[in-house]
This record gives sequence, structure tokens and C-alpha cells, in this order.
Amino acid sequence: MGVSEGIEGKVRQDLASLGGYVPSKAPENVARELGLREEDIIKLDDNENPYGCSPRVQQALGNCTYLYTYPDAGQTELRRQLQEYIGVDASYIVADNGSDQLIDNVLRLFLEPGDELINAIPTFDIFRVRALVYGGKLVNVPRDEDFVIDAAAIKAAVNKNTKMIVLATPNNPTGTITHQPDILELADTGIPLLVDEAYVEFSGETVTKLVNQYKNMMVLRTFSKWAGLAGLRIGYGVFPPKIAEYLMKLKLPYNVSVAARVAVRETLKDTQNLMSKVKAIVAERERLFTELGKLDWLKPFPSQANFVFCHVLKGKASDIQQALHDRGILIRYFDLPLLQNSIRISVGKPEHTDALLKALREIGS
Ligand SMILES: Cc1ncc(COP(=O)(O)O)c(C=O)c1O
Repeated sequence: MGVSEGIEGKVRQDLASLGGYVPSKAPENVARELGLREEDIIKLDDNENPYGCSPRVQQALGNCTYLYTYPDAGQTELRRQLQEYIGVDASYIVADNGSDQLIDNVLRLFLEPGDELINAIPTFDIFRVRALVYGGKLVNVPRDEDFVIDAAAIKAAVNKNTKMIVLATPNNPTGTITHQPDILELADTGIPLLVDEAYVEFSGETVTKLVNQYKNMMVLRTFSKWAGLAGLRIGYGVFPPKIAEYLMKLKLPYNVSVAARVAVRETLKDTQNLMSKVKAIVAERERLFTELGKLDWLKPFPSQANFVFCHVLKGKASDIQQALHDRGILIRYFDLPLLQNSIRISVGKPEHTDALLKALREIGS
């Protein structure tokens, strides 16, 4: 082999050609590009919490003396705190650095090359990407025109090669909820079912407490959205205890940082304050939905999460995203087979909604 050939030919070719997850643009880069200050960027592209984390977290992190030690690999205190918060025994709980990482670990635990994973599309793209990383075969079952899952079609897609069903509720990017009877219908197939409840604090509907009644149900949750801790990376899941045990073994030992553990401890002492912010976001979501519906070139969809998804009826979604970007307002656009000409806008503070609506009216006129 000549020196010029390098080592790239040795890598897994399926990974080399994998279409990866498209992340958002960092606001500091946008600010630099536009000659703005970072604090002037209105960030409505990643479903973060515009009110930030609890002030208790900020303060405790400043006073944290144990950043030089590794965290407890067994997550003893963390799992106990989560047990108290969700009312499920600690033996069912595993935490990781974001629920993204738990999606990855769960798929790694279950999928062998060629195994089928049923995915209710359009949905969170990490399911597709990480399934492909582990050699999984995606079986895509489309949602209906209102993005409601087709439980009958999902059940009909089950065959001897089916290893898992994944379901985000509320769904990203559409905000659609899947109600408990439909989730349980999928659980009744006996196929391992991963329910991703990243936005559950905004919808209030959860199946977390049913995990101990089903041998095959797993639920993922996160502190990124309701608790404003996206930057610290802390998510957790509720699993049948044997699966939790395997995941504890599979995870990297010190996966949740000391800082994230301090943040969880303080967050859980401040839930009343944080849930009042969640309530404000839900109220603002409804205002955003109503106001977007007044623009005759957008069709917003009802949402149970902290964002609103819209079809663009006139003009191009990418042009709208770019025009907002040029004004320092960041949103997401999609132009994919099942997400044609659409945008997704995270719910901000009322002043962010006002700035967004003003910009949209200018762009649309
Ligand atoms: C449905 C869904 N699941 C999981 C995640 C990942 O969250 P985390 O920040 O906990 O990794 C997101 C983030 O946008 C999401 O939308």
C-alpha cells in the first residue's frame, strides 16, 4: 500500500458513507457571521429552554469542589434521586450524558446487523442514524397526514426479523402525542419498545410508571428540555431491571459528569419553579400556534411539546429559514420526502415570539 493511500480504505465503508444527523449551527458562529453579539441571537432551532436552568444549579456549580474526582460509576445517589422524582425503583433507572446517548446504547444492546427496527416516520433522526451505525435495517412506517402513528400498520410490519420498535412522544419535529392505548397496543406485540419522552414535561402524558408491568417497554427522559440543562448533557431511562443492568455494564464508566450530577440534585430541589417556567412555555406555545395560523402562508400543527411545526404553503421553507437567520433568528427547516417544505420553531419567551412574528410578517409581505 502506497503512503498516499492512507488508512481511510480500512474504515467501515457503511459508516464512511452514512448520512449523519444534521446538527444546529452554533449561535456564536452565527453571531460572528452576522456581526451581532451572541446574546442578540434568538435561538429557536433546538427546542431548548429559553429560561435556562434553575439558579440553584448555577450557584451550586460555582461552589462545586469535587470536579477533580471521577463520578460514582454506579450512579447510586443519582439513581436514588431519580427514583424519588419519577416514582420508579432505582433498579429500573440508568442515566447517561443525554438521552441521545441512551438511544445509542439501547440500539447497540439490541441490534445485530440485519435486525429490523420499526420507525414511525417522520421522527427524530437520531433513531435512523444510530440504527444504521449498528447495522440495523430500518422499517419505516409513515404517520398519517396529522402525524399520528398508524399502530395497525406498525403491528403489521412486525415479523421474525423485528428487533425493536421506537417511538418519540411527543414526536420531534411534529409535536404529535401518541396516547397510552396506542403505546400499549405496540407494547402488546412483545417486541422491545423504546418510548422516547424527551418532551413529556410539556405534555404531561407518560408511560414511565408502566415499565414495571411490561417486560419489553423502555422509556427515555431528559433534563435538556424542561430543566434547561441541554448544555450539561444529562438524560435517563427506565428499563426492565435486567436491561438496566446490561446498560450499566455497557455504558462508559464515568458517563455522567460530576457537574451534571450536581445539576440534577439542585434541579430536583427546584421543580416547582422550573415547572412554572414549563407552564409559561406551554402558554406561549399556544399563542405562537394561534399567531402562526393567522399567516395565510403557514399551516401550524397542534403541538404537545415546546415547539411548533408548520407546513409552508407559499414560498420555500429554506428561504424563510435563511431570511430569519439573516435577522439573527434561528429555526429549523425540512425538505425531505415526508417533511416537505416545513419549518419547526422552538417556543421562546414572549419577546422572542414577538420578534419572530414581526420578522415573518416582513418576510411574507
Ligand atoms: C425526541 C428526542 N429525543 C431525544 C433528544 C435528545 O435529548 P438529549 O439532550 O437528552 O440528548 C431530543 C433532542 O432534541 C429529542 O428531540
